[in-house]
Amino acid sequence: MILVTGGAGFIGGNFVLDWLAGSDEPVINLDALTYAGNLHTLDALKNDARHVFVHGDIGDTQLVSQLLKQYQPRAVVNFAAESHVDRSIHGPADFIQTNILGTFNLLESVRAYWNDLPEPEKSDFRFLHVSTDEVYGSLEKDDPPFAETHRYEPNSPYSASKAASDHLVRAWHHTYGLPVLTTNCSNNYGPYHFPEKLIPLVILNALAGKPLPIYGDGQQIRDWLYVRDHCSAIRRVLEAGRLGETYNVGGWNEKANLDVVKTICTLLDEMQPRADGQSYAEQITFVTDRAGHDRRYAIDARKLERELGWKPAETFESGIRKTVQWYLDNTEWTRNVTTGAYREWTTRQYGA
Ligand code: NAD
Ligand code: TYD
Repeated sequence: MILVTGGAGFIGGNFVLDWLAGSDEPVINLDALTYAGNLHTLDALKNDARHVFVHGDIGDTQLVSQLLKQYQPRAVVNFAAESHVDRSIHGPADFIQTNILGTFNLLESVRAYWNDLPEPEKSDFRFLHVSTDEVYGSLEKDDPPFAETHRYEPNSPYSASKAASDHLVRAWHHTYGLPVLTTNCSNNYGPYHFPEKLIPLVILNALAGKPLPIYGDGQQIRDWLYVRDHCSAIRRVLEAGRLGETYNVGGWNEKANLDVVKTICTLLDEMQPRADGQSYAEQITFVTDRAGHDRRYAIDARKLERELGWKPAETFESGIRKTVQWYLDNTEWTRNVTTGAYREWTTRQYGA
């Protein structure tokens, strides 16, 4: 079996669902259920013995060591993190705690377990660390996309904490020989995405008749990847990645934020038109820019394609249509996650 951390979050949840849809290998899912963790994402696995959910923290070495001993996983896939840049600006402490100290504690628990494994389990074991392109900093308009050799230049408390965790993972390989793999992926979107992030926030605000907040001039560029493509890349790297290597994951879909929001409005105009016949684009509102806002991210995913033959299945056009449809079809899920804590955050970030 495998141990997944953060599997009640957006990407981890999709990963667990996809994993068990394609394999009978059980998953131990360790998640602290922060505001971003949501067990409803895993409703389809309620009576599935292949999925064992454990409520706990990656930094709890006693718990993690006991889980490793009990279940003897052949791999650990680490999704658990604080992941929202805007929250990291308001309160970086949780990011240092989970992303840096949590990863450190997890690495130490895993190292002790791995050290005691007999062969061939020891050689076959993998620790896959899920990271982000944001560790590379910001690109100028004409710069080539980030390759794995790009220097680390994180600019936000979030990306700095992820960069630190990547360095720890790398060091645990070089110093202790822990068999690690790291993936650095671009912005994900798709089902079960917590609506504090741009795409789900815009879909839900549009439908609720609320403003669609665009930071600054809306010309910041992100490179969007459908979440299930990210999951397939992680499965592929886990299966065949070279030890100690990092793999950039992306779909060659660079888009300016304003264009992303306009695309969502056009899709909603078609799929669920406004009662007054106006376009949802009327709700677009320019708001104060994010502090230290990175201008452009773009991923060069050729290493993953060349070495491991991975390619995304979705284009941005196909993926965003599926995503908008998913939010229209799953209002119950969104109702469950947009509770008091969510409303507190949106009031704090965007005002009443
Ligand atoms: P998310 O915020 O939706 O989910 C994070 C999950 O981790 C939640 O279920 C939360 O409860 C859990 N968690 C938080 N702290 C924990 C702790 N101390 N112990 C155990 N569980 C804890 O995040 P996401 O968007 O699914 O991102 C998952 C991973 O992928 C993160 O490491 C993130 O940095 C990385 N990543 C995200 C993106 C993206 O676009 N969302 C892109 C590239 C990489
Ligand atoms: P986000 O989804 O928070 O991801 P990240 O900051 O990790 O890239 O934001 C995506 C882009 O959208 C980013 O450039 C910030 C911008 N943005 C807005 O313009 N308005 C918003 O309300 C949010 C949440 C993000």
